[in-house]
Amino acid sequence: MRFHGTMNINRQGRLEIGGCDTVELAQRFGTPLYVLDERLFRQNCRDYYQSFTAEYGAGVVYAAKALLTLSVCRMIEEEGLGLDLVSGGELYTAVQAGFPMDRVYFHGNNKSPEEIRLALKSGVGRFVVDNIYELELLDYLSGESQLKAQIILRLTPGIEAHTHEYIKTGQIDSKFGLVIENGQAMAAIRRALSMENIVLNGLHCHIGSQIFELDSYNHCASVMMDFCAGVYNQTGWIARELDLGGGLGIYYSGGDRPPRVREYADNIMRVIDEKARLSGLATPRVIVEPGRSICGPAGTTLYTVGAIKEIPGIRTYVAVDGGMGDNPRPALYQARYEACLANKITQEPVQLVSVAGKCCESGDMLIWDIKLPCVEAGDVMAVSCTGAYNYAMSMNYNRLPRPAMVLVYDGLADLILERETYEDIIGRDRVPERLVKRDRQLKNIASAG
Ligand code: LLP
Repeated sequence: MRFHGTMNINRQGRLEIGGCDTVELAQRFGTPLYVLDERLFRQNCRDYYQSFTAEYGAGVVYAAKALLTLSVCRMIEEEGLGLDLVSGGELYTAVQAGFPMDRVYFHGNNKSPEEIRLALKSGVGRFVVDNIYELELLDYLSGESQLKAQIILRLTPGIEAHTHEYIKTGQIDSKFGLVIENGQAMAAIRRALSMENIVLNGLHCHIGSQIFELDSYNHCASVMMDFCAGVYNQTGWIARELDLGGGLGIYYSGGDRPPRVREYADNIMRVIDEKARLSGLATPRVIVEPGRSICGPAGTTLYTVGAIKEIPGIRTYVAVDGGMGDNPRPALYQARYEACLANKITQEPVQLVSVAGKCCESGDMLIWDIKLPCVEAGDVMAVSCTGAYNYAMSMNYNRLPRPAMVLVYDGLADLILERETYEDIIGRDRVPERLVKRDRQLKNIASAG
């Protein structure tokens, strides 16, 4: 397993993150356990801030869908980034964290009237309007609140990025955005410009997630800038903001070669500047929305090994006490992860095994074919790069409680998310009167009488 951030081997020969012994973390907080490396999380924020904001005056808006808790909001605020939010729940989290709402970009392809009202009331900086229906609704609701909504329009630039089918979004056949090619985007711009309660600031696009090819971004930036020039010629309107979405890929396992944030920034900005020069229009303020590349490598999940099943000549299954409930990505996207045994980090890998989750589903496999030291029940397994879209996409399948999350930093380990309990699991169950147990009914009647 490749080491990330503050990962280290300590004197006991165990994996350490943020100066904390991971075996001790597993004992103290239980497993499965999400561990977030604060130093690396912040370092990734700073990389973006330096490369985009300090260098080019561009905006960096963290895509909260990748990982959001109250503490995450605080770190994002302290690092000077904005937040890309996509739902009432995410908005509510940011409001409760006291996040400066003028730094919020509110996304979503089907925002409800309640979500729009909450966003208007809390004063989000930008609505990223996805379609004509939303544009009309937002104009109406802003008028109702006597507010002007500051928007950018999400467009579909018609770009196919090389990534998993489920996480690519820039192609024309997508549920997101207004299509440039068929005139929808231009029609929406004209409509927005004619609206009384809408202020159109710029345009947005997002071509997908876990993307390594900088050419895809360059191509996208170039298509968007050409479109901006075309819009100016036809309407006289200048896009002052250009939001190019998120999506920079990260290293998960051997073969993944992500570019550096600095290269990503320099590439995009070169294309934008060049295009602006050619068209004679001012360079728009660029915005990027990284999620995975900020929180992904900063997360590690600790599990305890339980049942080990050897099928001679075929495969050895090593089962851990979590799985698709806390990390659905292998089952959903055939995502690949690396792992190690935190308590045997100095031992040589001698055994080829496959790591299974504990859900009642054959597809609940975390890692196929990984070489580990001799695995035994009770070992602590650490799976790296689980910070993005793990907790965020976790679920209670099989009524398994969601894990806790700890934030580690220079030897400190603080709980930032409590482990769900069995009480939480049944907490919202309701039993109609006719299903209440007879003896309990009688007891109630007797006590009432
Ligand atoms: N901006 C927009 C408009 C997005 O749709 C996304 C991700 C991002 C920014 C952040 O992208 P990132 O930098 O994190 O790649 N659940 C999938 C990923 C879905 C991505 C959704 N949109 C996964 O686990 O791979």
